[in-house]
Amino acid sequence: MRLDGKVAIVTGGGAGFGEGICRRFAAEGARVIVNDVNEQDGRRVADAIGEAGGEARFVYADVSRDADTGRLVAEAVDRHGRLDIMVNNAGVPQRGQPMENVTEDEFDRIFAVNVKALFWSAKHTVPLMRQAGGGCIIHTASTAALSPRPGLVWYNGSKGAVNTITQSMAIELAPDRIRVNAVCPVAGETRMLAEFLGGRVTPEMHARFMSTVPLGRLSQPADVANAVLFLASDDAEFLTGVCLPVDGGRTI
Ligand SMILES: NC(=O)c1ccc[n+]([C@@H]2O[C@H](COP(=O)([O-])OP(=O)(O)OC[C@H]3O[C@@H](n4cnc5c(N)ncnc54)[C@H](O)[C@@H]3O)[C@@H](O)[C@H]2O)c1
Repeated sequence: MRLDGKVAIVTGGGAGFGEGICRRFAAEGARVIVNDVNEQDGRRVADAIGEAGGEARFVYADVSRDADTGRLVAEAVDRHGRLDIMVNNAGVPQRGQPMENVTEDEFDRIFAVNVKALFWSAKHTVPLMRQAGGGCIIHTASTAALSPRPGLVWYNGSKGAVNTITQSMAIELAPDRIRVNAVCPVAGETRMLAEFLGGRVTPEMHARFMSTVPLGRLSQPADVANAVLFLASDDAEFLTGVCLPVDGGRTI
């Protein structure tokens, strides 16, 4: 078991990549706090982990909000006495469209969930991890940050910020033995894909996406979960500031 006894929070854990990360972490012995704004999905994931013999608890929180994030972190500490791993995975897409058509509300939402949530997360987790003598923080960025596609300008920019914040946190927190890394998945087989593509994925769109990935398929939650597990485990004890493409070669 690669995460035996570790306490982990996974934001956006009720679906997609986050669900994959929660299930994998629990199978590797972690005690998982499944966070989401979708209560039904979050409870479903926590219950499924429990039924499979793992340990998980759902906590509702909107991670773009200070008080919610504070409560989320406090619940982990109250229940388990510590927090070893914080996975900031929750994110929202931009509906694919010319950049000037995106409204101010959409822009603000993208940056609130994809970027400002990292600020609140750091405010609440870094002092705890510093006091504990170390910890591990992982962000879900995107290949959008490394090799942007058209029609997603503000989303791409938000994920670029995630990667720069990851490296900046890594260098600032290395003396505290807090490792900070990111994964950069290529387009994935999750609900978000349809939102990027304007609501529905036709077989032609799917085929066009797949043709840009040298390994010939889109990412799956298990691909992202495997990479996050590695970064969270002691096997990655000398890795910090890494923004790891999980992309089947797309960004080569
Ligand atoms: N699907 C892709 O093509 C793709 C590619 C690269 C990166 N990503 C990134 O991966 C992460 C996960 O996306 P996914 O594809 O699994 O999407 P998803 O929509 O399947 O899951 C995202 C989850 O986050 C939750 N969430 C949204 N806002 C939240 C908030 N404010 N607080 C708490 N939870 C919130 C949603 O309810 C949902 O359950 C995101 O950061 C996304 O930007 C996705």
